[in-house]
Amino acid sequence: MSSGYKFEGEHFLLGTAMQGGEVVKGSNIYLPLKTMNRHGLIAGATGTGKTKTLQLIAEGLSDASVPVVLMDIKGDLSGIAAAGTANDKVIDRYTKAGATYTPAAYPVELLSLSDEKGVRLRSTVIEFGPVLMSRILGLNDTQEGVVSMIFKYCDDNKMALLDLKDFIKILQFISNEGKKEIEASYGKISTTSTGTILRKVIELQQQGADIFFGEPSFDVEDLMRISDDGRGMVNILRVTDMQNRPKLFSTFMLSLLAELYATLPEEGDMDKPKLVLFIDEAHLVFQEATDALLQQIETVIKLIRSKGVGIFFITQNPQDIPASILSQLGLKVQHALRAFTAADRKTIKLAAENYPESSFYDVDELLTQLGIGEALVSLLNEKGIPTPLVHALLLSPRSRMDVLTQGEMDTILSHSTMVKKYNITVDSESAYEILNRKLQDAAEQDKKLEEVKQASKPKKAVKEESIFDNTAVKQASRTAASIITRSLLGALGLGGRRKRNSIF
Ligand SMILES: Nc1ncnc2c1ncn2[C@@H]1O[C@H](COP(=O)(O)OP(=O)(O)OP(=O)(O)O)[C@@H](O)[C@H]1O
Ligand SMILES: [Mg+2]
Repeated sequence: MSSGYKFEGEHFLLGTAMQGGEVVKGSNIYLPLKTMNRHGLIAGATGTGKTKTLQLIAEGLSDASVPVVLMDIKGDLSGIAAAGTANDKVIDRYTKAGATYTPAAYPVELLSLSDEKGVRLRSTVIEFGPVLMSRILGLNDTQEGVVSMIFKYCDDNKMALLDLKDFIKILQFISNEGKKEIEASYGKISTTSTGTILRKVIELQQQGADIFFGEPSFDVEDLMRISDDGRGMVNILRVTDMQNRPKLFSTFMLSLLAELYATLPEEGDMDKPKLVLFIDEAHLVFQEATDALLQQIETVIKLIRSKGVGIFFITQNPQDIPASILSQLGLKVQHALRAFTAADRKTIKLAAENYPESSFYDVDELLTQLGIGEALVSLLNEKGIPTPLVHALLLSPRSRMDVLTQGEMDTILSHSTMVKKYNITVDSESAYEILNRKLQDAAEQDKKLEEVKQASKPKKAVKEESIFDNTAVKQASRTAASIITRSLLGALGLGGRRKRNSIF
């Protein structure tokens, strides 16, 4: 085990170097834990081994007590919770690295963003915040100003914005009944802006975002748990239903990253990361992202490193990842690319340019010839310097290279303390209920006012004196009078219950 691929500090085995199609004995490739917050890329054509590489790296991290989050978009990652089975091919990979294959099952938590089985991950609209909300909705500066004003208005008036229902209600309210009063305190609001925002929120809702916004909101610290035997938890986020809802997926991703960024303290140089996120089928995150959203993602990725969080993108073509993000990725594992068309060949040229120049390999050519579970690897050594590009025969995961059965998943969920904590229904009073009640109160007062008006006319005319002798009637009259006063003051924006609540 000589060579330049061995590191000081904690590291784990990734595979063995190859040249001329053969394994080079004693040239093992290790990943230093210290640089795992420097982000990474796993790329390659379909079926070349990207997801298994993800699984292998996640196992290495968990073994080193680093919790991980896996975005399981294709639903093929659950097998990490079960031990793998030995076969000749798998054993051969370990033998070539001078290692022994020992099957292992990993501590797994199954999470879900929707109705799929798993711990429910949610965030409230308030926690999401006005800036992120505006980015997700793709709003311009004026519209963003309106969103900020809405958050401020709700905050000033102690109206919780928990779910999209609350957000939609307040948008409707400020364009109609509440417009005048709100403009008096917060300035002019353009109805065109509120209309556009409302339309975009409904669009987001149609992608199923309702299920994501609400209570109880997920505490990101719960992603950083260590299992009883000291290994990092493997949190599998089952998002198979996100494939046709890219907007929702990027919404979620960004909110998760922002939340992690806001929650975690600034760390100096760490021996190992605090958490590593793997995003399989990562092109989905960028597919429908607006420029503003991309910029936000880029910024968060740049900053989150110093909080000890690493992010790995897994996708077919490196060009699926925006160049500004690609340039920030420290570890690159490039599986084979296919050269069927002219466009493919162009992609290969571009992909080859992403890697350090190599005097050992003809990168362009090798990219099309790599076998399954082989890759060109470029990583950072513990000093943060890129090592020479190496053709690697990767190890196999030690856990199962297939999915769990329904029964196995149910067993995991039945033992989960997180399910007990998060899979509950909470419907706190929030903006929706408060505004509905307010509108209802106003309508009732108007109705009562009308009734009193109608009722008082004939009575006065008939038997004025005798009526006032009767205490019960006196009482009723006082009530009626106070209702009239309150309604009038209310209509003028003064007095009554409304004023005490200082909502108008
Ligand atoms: N390191 C490995 N050791 C042993 N077998 C492997 C390894 N990598 C890949 N394979 C084999 O190749 C198959 C495909 O691998 P994988 O699912 O990782 O491909 P992928 O690149 O993620 O494909 P897709 O783009 O379709 O998701 C696996 O089911 C497994 O049989
Ligand atoms: Mg895959």
